[in-house]
Amino acid sequence: MLEALNPQPQDKILQLIAMFREDPRDTKIDLGVGVYKDPTGLTPVMRAVKAAEKKLWDSEKTKTYTALAGEPAYNAAMVGLILGDGYADRAASVATPGGTGAIRQALELIRMANPKAKVWMSNPTWPNHPSIVKYLGMPSGEYRYFDAATGGVDFAGLLADLGTVAAGDAVLLHGCCHNPTGANLDAAQWDQVIAVLQARGAIPFVDLAYQGFGDGLDADAEATRKVAAAFPEVLIAASCSKNFGVYRERTGILIALTSPDRKAVVQGNLNYLNRQNYSFPPDHGARLVTMILEDAALTAEWKSELEDVRQNMLGLRQQLADELRRATNSDRFDFVARHRGMFSRLGLTEAQVTTLREQHGIYMVGDSRINIAGLNAKTVPVLAAAIAQVL
Ligand code: LMR
Repeated sequence: MLEALNPQPQDKILQLIAMFREDPRDTKIDLGVGVYKDPTGLTPVMRAVKAAEKKLWDSEKTKTYTALAGEPAYNAAMVGLILGDGYADRAASVATPGGTGAIRQALELIRMANPKAKVWMSNPTWPNHPSIVKYLGMPSGEYRYFDAATGGVDFAGLLADLGTVAAGDAVLLHGCCHNPTGANLDAAQWDQVIAVLQARGAIPFVDLAYQGFGDGLDADAEATRKVAAAFPEVLIAASCSKNFGVYRERTGILIALTSPDRKAVVQGNLNYLNRQNYSFPPDHGARLVTMILEDAALTAEWKSELEDVRQNMLGLRQQLADELRRATNSDRFDFVARHRGMFSRLGLTEAQVTTLREQHGIYMVGDSRINIAGLNAKTVPVLAAAIAQVL
């Protein structure tokens, strides 16, 4: 049987982890996978997470199963963090293994409800989006998103393409910190996107994986909140991997907003999907997140560390934009300072990306996406000089 299997292509982002590890050069720089690193190159366990783990070790009395949808306290805390108050009667939700788990469950829910629904994704998007959609055999569409010439959003193209979406189609939107481009919609543009999707009768599906990494915890949730208020049905896949730094604990949530009288049925379908795919969601990371969000002192500690993380990335963005200006004698890369989140797409060719890797030991995704947090004050000028050389 197994000899019938064909080799699978390697994931282009995850592949970089191994390539980087195997590179013996001690000057190598890892700007690949989206994992936060502090200025010393470490991905730290956040202080509030450590404190919660200690408390949990002392207080946890059982490892028996949690609820199928995850602990209600986690789901409530996450709905509050993302949407604020007022959604208890509309929000069905399940804890999931990370943000990827939430995306997978959301897509399966869409397929169960409407097998004909097309899933629209930005071009470009996180490569795992189309990969899962394809794996599930769902119809898909693309909407224009990035303007490589300016490093900003191709908003006219985006509006034109979303204007062709059919009623009942799902439109995947990055709630903040667009991956891979780093280019984001402003508030007025979100209003226009909402108006178009309302006119088309589309279902918004928001991926929120970087809340707190862009303009701040609340600011990064603003677009998602607007969408939640504007549509009767919304799917939101959120991740705690980055903002709580609990990557390997696989901590995410899928929220399905519906009408109060449909909530029980939608919740039942979410529970069913969890049961079919893995029964109970992982608990450890979710429990830590709950403990942090339910304790004022831990929340304050977490917010302050998250803010340091965000400020560090903003500082690196400005420094890189300045260094690139100097090194290339042009304003071509000024967009790096305007982008938000972990990533910026630099607009280099695949050949230039390869040269940077082979000759300079600088690792980025083939589409020239860099993880800003892979840099520090010392490596920014090194990157800028190397880019200027390969241009
Ligand atoms: C990324 O885009 O690098 C992250 O979301 C990590 C991943 O799983 O790809």
